[in-house]
Amino acid sequence: MKTQYERISILGLGAMGRALASALLDSGREVTVWNRTPGKAGELVTRGARVASSPEEAIHVGDLTVVCLLDDASVRATLAPAVRELGGGTLVNLTSGSVRQARELARWLTGHGVHFLAGGIMAVPATVGTQGAFVLYSSARDVFDRVAPVLGSIGRSHWVGEDPGFAALYDMAALSGMYGLGAGADHAVALVHAEGGDVETFRQEVLQPWMEQMLPITVAGADASETVPDEYNPAMQATGLENILSASGEAGVPAHLAGHLRASLWRMRRAVDAS
Ligand SMILES: NC(=O)c1ccc[n+]([C@@H]2O[C@H](COP(=O)([O-])OP(=O)(O)OC[C@H]3O[C@@H](n4cnc5c(N)ncnc54)[C@H](OP(=O)(O)O)[C@@H]3O)[C@@H](O)[C@H]2O)c1
Repeated sequence: MKTQYERISILGLGAMGRALASALLDSGREVTVWNRTPGKAGELVTRGARVASSPEEAIHVGDLTVVCLLDDASVRATLAPAVRELGGGTLVNLTSGSVRQARELARWLTGHGVHFLAGGIMAVPATVGTQGAFVLYSSARDVFDRVAPVLGSIGRSHWVGEDPGFAALYDMAALSGMYGLGAGADHAVALVHAEGGDVETFRQEVLQPWMEQMLPITVAGADASETVPDEYNPAMQATGLENILSASGEAGVPAHLAGHLRASLWRMRRAVDAS
């Protein structure tokens, strides 16, 4: 296995693939790009990226192949004809997928002699390469140790274990948390809007500082067992949630926006019933 990766090939030039290529060019690497639909390399070419005409060609010229496509099916379709070219090389998959898909991809590629690393990008294209961006990696630690310094220009590299499914697992679980916050914020804004409140003032002066205050407590208190500690006073919380749901109904906020509140209410009522 190579220990220095100066020539990096990127398969996929969607919004994220282009951001990855840009960050790697910034770090001084030689970057070769391939995309199913030609003509997507744009200004990457003027900045020095080379365009390959096939995945095989891109894999051949690179020391390290980074894959960032839509989903697992597109990764399989792209790599299947090129898998012989990959043997003995190193490949990092930064395409989102399920835990099972990541494990099966790892089994398939390592079976063909590929040094494989699974990844999950905790950034959006605009934040790739910035201070807050980080990337979760899993599978063989020695592959991570070699690759992480090179891919550090994308975002901080964070290894989460030998299981190749863990990068996808932690990525998806973190996204679940993010969508939960988003659902709550959407409902909050809909409620203020429906009752004639000043949405911008509410957003900046109330919602933002409140969510910032509660975020560490919410994360620390998340519990897979679905139990609610007594000190959280589930009876009081159930009453509070019923109030919010009533207010939401009175304001005419669509019921589907309040799904997260009903999930919390179910949990609190269950805790009350169990006490
Ligand atoms: N964007 C984000 O905020 C973000 C954040 C974290 C993770 N991700 C993950 O990064 C990955 C890429 O996201 P993106 O934002 O770059 O998506 P995107 O802009 O929709 O780009 C999708 C890419 O996949 C390619 N593709 C789709 N189907 C294909 C197939 N059957 N064979 C070969 N190539 C195929 C597309 O090629 P064509 O140009 O030919 O269609 C394009 O290069 C996804 O797995 C996404 O979940 C994205």
